[in-house]
Amino acid sequence: MSAQDVGAVDEYVSGEARQVRIGPRTLVIVRIEDDFYVLDDRCSHEDYSLAQGEVDATDATIECARHGAIFDLKDGTPQSFPATRPVARYDVVVRDGRVEVTFP
Ligand code: FES
Repeated sequence: MSAQDVGAVDEYVSGEARQVRIGPRTLVIVRIEDDFYVLDDRCSHEDYSLAQGEVDATDATIECARHGAIFDLKDGTPQSFPATRPVARYDVVVRDGRVEVTFP
């Protein structure tokens, strides 16, 4: 397990998705109020950036901009077609005003 700093809390705007590259990984990080969610930035339907999609802050979901599949930000599971497979998610914590993602 390794934790990676992905920036200050204040660098993230609530309700917006942001693409962050960490080594070989490309992540989509979403802040909703004080909660953070981290998924692989690759839709499981086709290879497309989820960071381009739209966040629903009420349901804590993100909708792929390409064909409209919706993913639960909490666990990466698809909530609608055409995606049928989950997107990998990662644990994230806020420590001393910094956002840290843990990789297995
Ligand atoms: S690429 Fe995301 S729904 Fe098709």
